[in-house]
Amino acid sequence: MPMPRNKTEDDITTEALQRFAGTQDPRLREIMLGLVKHLHAFVKEVELTEAEWFQAIEILTEAGRMCSDKRQEFILFSDTLGVSMVVDLISHRKPDGATESTVFGPFHRLGAPELPAGGNIAHLDKKGTPTLVSGQVLDLGGKPIAGALLDVWQAQSSGLYDSQDQDLGGELHMRGKFRTDAEGRYLIRTVLPVNYPIPSDGPVGAMLRATGRHPWRPAHIHFVVSADGYDPVTTHIFDRTDEYLGSDAVFAVKDSLICDFVRHEKAEGDARLGIAPPYYTTQFDFHLKPAAEQGATILDAQQRLAALGAAE
Ligand code: BEZ
Ligand code: FE
Repeated sequence: MPMPRNKTEDDITTEALQRFAGTQDPRLREIMLGLVKHLHAFVKEVELTEAEWFQAIEILTEAGRMCSDKRQEFILFSDTLGVSMVVDLISHRKPDGATESTVFGPFHRLGAPELPAGGNIAHLDKKGTPTLVSGQVLDLGGKPIAGALLDVWQAQSSGLYDSQDQDLGGELHMRGKFRTDAEGRYLIRTVLPVNYPIPSDGPVGAMLRATGRHPWRPAHIHFVVSADGYDPVTTHIFDRTDEYLGSDAVFAVKDSLICDFVRHEKAEGDARLGIAPPYYTTQFDFHLKPAAEQGATILDAQQRLAALGAAE
């Protein structure tokens, strides 16, 4: 059939949709048709100019250039556009008593040391206020899960992650893996989490400045909690007193993840860890749901992502 000569914008959309219509894999077909439909609609709605299209290509190219094992500008785009949290909510729709998830973020690193209960992830941080985080990992019925793994990471009291801190020369810091005991209990020593701005020296920062948005995240500690036979959960705990809880740059705060960090001026029962007051304690129990019948898990995907560029 001869191709029409004077194609309209909508003709191109129709033709592009037709080219993808024969995709064998039904899920890939759905995704590609939806992508083309919405991408074309967006371009037509805002009447994207050639100059703007070139600028978008430049921005994406720069984002790619910035990516390494220490920097993931595409995750940062997804996070600051709110896409990561929409995906998170779609993936964890049913409120069923399991601990709520939130963004993975770009700062997870492989190779965190396995530490004993009470182990200090902040051993090089002399300025932060000592903090003990404790609780249990439980199933949905409240039964303790022994041997659950908590992969923990956090920014230093300077507001920088280890990978952003030139002085550390690549050393891992503020990271650790902890196993629960027979009662499902864990105990982590760290420093009080602080709020910090997300990296803004790249295209994401330029977007935030151009749109009048601030880059701050409320104080938090990251966790991936996993155990055999359960779905892993990727989440944070947040400090209830933080001024950015209502305006997190990446939209990641959920009420159920907000904790009270209690200040202690005198040595109490925790003196056994050799902590001099003042220090903080907080408690949080994680509830895991039984493993869904599926192949690759979110954990597999995260590990692949964390390994990207690691071999550079
Ligand atoms: C983080 O909390 O580490 C983070 C999450 C999303 C974007 C930037 C940082
Ligand atoms: Fe963080």
